Amino acid sequence: MGRLDNKVAIITGAASGIGLATARRFAGEGAKVVVADLAESEGTELANELGGTYVNVNVADEASVQAMYAKVIGVYGGIDVLFNNAGISPADDDSILTTGLDAWRRVQDVNLTSVYLCCKYGIPHLLERGGGSGDRAKLLRRQGQVAERSGDRNVMGFRPSPPASRRQIPRDPSGEVRRPRAP
Ligand SMILES: NC(=O)c1ccc[n+]([C@@H]2O[C@H](COP(=O)([O-])OP(=O)(O)OC[C@H]3O[C@@H](n4cnc5c(N)ncnc54)[C@H](O)[C@@H]3O)[C@@H](O)[C@H]2O)c1
Repeated sequence: MGRLDNKVAIITGAASGIGLATARRFAGEGAKVVVADLAESEGTELANELGGTYVNVNVADEASVQAMYAKVIGVYGGIDVLFNNAGISPADDDSILTTGLDAWRRVQDVNLTSVYLCCKYGIPHLLERGGGSGDRAKLLRRQGQVAERSGDRNVMGFRPSPPASRRQIPRDPSGEVRRPRAP
């Protein structure tokens, strides 16, 4: 029995690198894997290999993210796991001294805004199925990384820093995470 038997898992940026390795591992654990990526031929090939589904998505684009979820719901009827992995590290984003505003904005859109969009439109689906794959902390850790990357203590409601084991995550009685009030 796999740890993700019959769980529907969307992995963005699954056509390459970390996402690809994760997709194979999740499939090995019994998940129904959704390979969500811009790279159509690599994504389709991987989805066929894993018996999953390829969805073409630009994670930086709101309508595209919404269409991704609509397609996955149409195919599987629900979503259990979301790994917001897609990202870029382009050559023209190399140093504060040389990086142009275009490159900066492109990286913010693909690496940061994408996680906001995928969480905003994806978490409601996870909640519908009982809150994800069983470990809500995994999702929160990824959001914590967004806070660390942005340097903004209030992004997604988390402060960067202590190790996950010592993080105090604010929750209301329903168990939902709330953005702390600004001082
Ligand atoms: N590899 C590392 O050492 C490292 C270190 C720190 C962080 N990361 C982060 O981990 C993630 C994966 O890294 P990787 O090395 O596997 O990268 P990778 O380049 O091998 O794979 C990224 C995948 O994301 C896809 N992608 C890019 N932009 C997209 C978009 N707008 N919409 C949908 N898909 C898109 C690409 O097509 C590709 O398949 C990235 O977010 C990266 O920033 C990687």
